[in-house]
Amino acid sequence: MTSYGLLVSPSHNRVYAQAAAGLVKAELAVFGERALDGRIRDIEETSIGGVPYVTFSSDELAETDVRLLSNLSSLYALFEIEGGLLRPVELKPLDLFGSDLLTIQKYSGKTNEYFTKLLLNVTAMATDSPMDLVTGRPRLLDPMCGRGTTLNQAMMYGLDAAGIDIDGKDFDAYAAFVKTWLKNNRVKHQAEITSIRREKAVLGRRLHVTLGASKELYKSGETMEITVVNADSVEAEKFFRPRSFDLIVTDAPYGVQHGSRAKGAQPGRRQQLSRSPVELLGAAVPGWARLLRPGGAVGISWNTFVGRREELAEILASSGLEVQDSEAYLGFRHRVDQAISRDLIVARKP
Ligand SMILES: C[S@@+](CC[C@H](N)C(=O)[O-])C[C@H]1O[C@@H](n2cnc3c(N)ncnc32)[C@H](O)[C@@H]1O
Repeated sequence: MTSYGLLVSPSHNRVYAQAAAGLVKAELAVFGERALDGRIRDIEETSIGGVPYVTFSSDELAETDVRLLSNLSSLYALFEIEGGLLRPVELKPLDLFGSDLLTIQKYSGKTNEYFTKLLLNVTAMATDSPMDLVTGRPRLLDPMCGRGTTLNQAMMYGLDAAGIDIDGKDFDAYAAFVKTWLKNNRVKHQAEITSIRREKAVLGRRLHVTLGASKELYKSGETMEITVVNADSVEAEKFFRPRSFDLIVTDAPYGVQHGSRAKGAQPGRRQQLSRSPVELLGAAVPGWARLLRPGGAVGISWNTFVGRREELAEILASSGLEVQDSEAYLGFRHRVDQAISRDLIVARKP
């Protein structure tokens, strides 16, 4: 049995930093339970040399285990602990691009990028093939994608991703961001925005981006795709094929206004945007569930002040999904601010 010590990333903002150790413990527990055959044990917070670590024990970790653990959302460094000494473990994260892809955008209502990564990770762990996160290429949908934090994390991982958001300003801002970022970073790509029409009516707009992680990959056609639709997520099935996603990952509206930006300010959109988050999920989840392939998983984060876990579990279960309720999956609730206590819920399609 080997002991390991993990340093939590120091770059968290103050609020998230308070919750980070607890969240990384829960995330590690999920990884251990779902992908590492229960081999991760004794997860605890320990002080080493006056610095807080998350420590755990395990049989020697194999190369693929380290590849998986390298993607823990708040991981900064990992050490083997031997006779009171720390030996660095070489990390092999999936990251294809610089971290500014996730950090450079700042706007009110943005989901913390570490939390977004955590939500993606623990959703991927609930599928019937959790190791696909590092050895496969799951296809992801964020059906309420805002300005794209989840889509950017998916891109960072080299996944094909799609998003839907009802807010036209978010759609425009994401399109502008992704095009500028790809150009500034000299990433080979093609991007276009088109209207989605059916029987002469315009259903929404679509941004479609094809990019290559390198020039060579782009030339050889080994590309990644990002698609974003500006529409109501309740109508998700009009835009995507049934069973076409492995992962659905979304941070639901919190039911509170963020800063000064009133999200209900667009005429005609007010009604949809003022729906309570639980009501919205009740209307949208059945359609999302049909977009998921059997064995795929959905992960939703939400504000527990506006909806109870049982209500969300009921919505997911009545769409035929199996809610993950092991202790590990119940350890993610944390305070964001006075008005938001965030939790996540994950379910698999049998
Ligand atoms: C908490 S925010 C997600 C933020 C996003 N993760 C980010 O970091 O930019 C929730 C999003 O749900 C969107 N939304 C609300 N109702 C919707 C609906 N009916 N269909 C699609 N999107 C909706 C909002 O416009 C908002 O962008």
